[in-house]
Amino acid sequence: MAKPISIEVWNPSGKYRVISTKPMPGTRWIRLLTDQDCRVEICTEKKTILSVEDILALIGHKCDGVIGQLTEDWGEVLFSGLRRAGGTAFSNMAVGYNNVDVNAATKYGVAVGNTPGVLTETTAELAASLSVAASRRIVEADQFMRAGLYDGWLPHLFVGNLLKGQTVGVIGAGRIGSAYARMMVEGFKMNLIYYDLYQATRLEKFVTAYGQFLKANGEQPVTWKRAATMEDVLREADVISLHPVLDKTTYHLINKDSLSIMKKDAILVNCSRGPVIDEAALVEHLKVNPMFRVGLDVFEDEPYMKPGLAEMKNAIVVPHIASASKWTREGMATLAALNVLGKIKGYPAWSDPNRVEAFLDENSPPPSACPSIVNAKQLGLPSSKL
Ligand code: DGY
Repeated sequence: MAKPISIEVWNPSGKYRVISTKPMPGTRWIRLLTDQDCRVEICTEKKTILSVEDILALIGHKCDGVIGQLTEDWGEVLFSGLRRAGGTAFSNMAVGYNNVDVNAATKYGVAVGNTPGVLTETTAELAASLSVAASRRIVEADQFMRAGLYDGWLPHLFVGNLLKGQTVGVIGAGRIGSAYARMMVEGFKMNLIYYDLYQATRLEKFVTAYGQFLKANGEQPVTWKRAATMEDVLREADVISLHPVLDKTTYHLINKDSLSIMKKDAILVNCSRGPVIDEAALVEHLKVNPMFRVGLDVFEDEPYMKPGLAEMKNAIVVPHIASASKWTREGMATLAALNVLGKIKGYPAWSDPNRVEAFLDENSPPPSACPSIVNAKQLGLPSSKL
């Protein structure tokens, strides 16, 4: 007989059975569920990535909703299993949902929630941190120091790139890409070039106004340009940050050819999804271009790195922590729980999933709505008029 999966139970007599496949930050999300008659079961198994079989075992014969993680494969098997157990609610504790087969969920009448609106600044801050760390070789210098190799100041020691007056390139100027662009423009007085199918009007206005402010104060104004092609950004920018969604059109967006048109000492940052970069091609590029540097939060075969990447001194690698601020992670947990709760209770979907402040206010009860259901239209869920 298979060993039972370990769980922690809250409000054992609750009417609705809600599972979280991982313990999540904060306790508000648990309280919100238990206050509304949910029995909450949190998987405490010491295993980072749960398999489909593990999750099926957790769902069991009766389950109303599940909060899952981006490492899990939510497809046909799990959605049919959840539906068989009577469940109609699922939420990823993530804004991205490339691990979820939304069509399969819709086929089984399961709502799929995600958590937009709380990751923007936190993720942009990590992209900015990686940009600075790579430009100024902070990780290499830290390792050098700890290894006891520092024996005195030298004119050439860890010389990196100045950001001020250089050009920051953004591929995908949605919420996170625009927040990152503003940080780099305002913080380091960089000029902006961006590529996006949609015009980032608010971002353009911000850079124009900041440029005017600098000029009025006797400083060199910052500028912006919307590039006609992604290649224009790659050719012109000194620091490039990737913020597209992962789909068929963005898989290996950065490959041998696109790397070859970038500046030899450019900085490339990726806090989106790993497969946007052909990581094997990147390793080869890093080997032959020692002044080219990268800051990576995500990897093509996560949690693994392609052979050779870990040995590259011109690569900074961190374990998918872009959203890892306390406020954001607690917010993600709250939104995921409220997506599941809202569907169980028959609430409508919130009309603007990017404006989720009302759900995060600890001092008042959340609106009676699901904060963000990505297949709301397909399922014919009403939209909240609140
Ligand atoms: C998301 O929410 O999609 C992020 O990748 C988690 O950090």
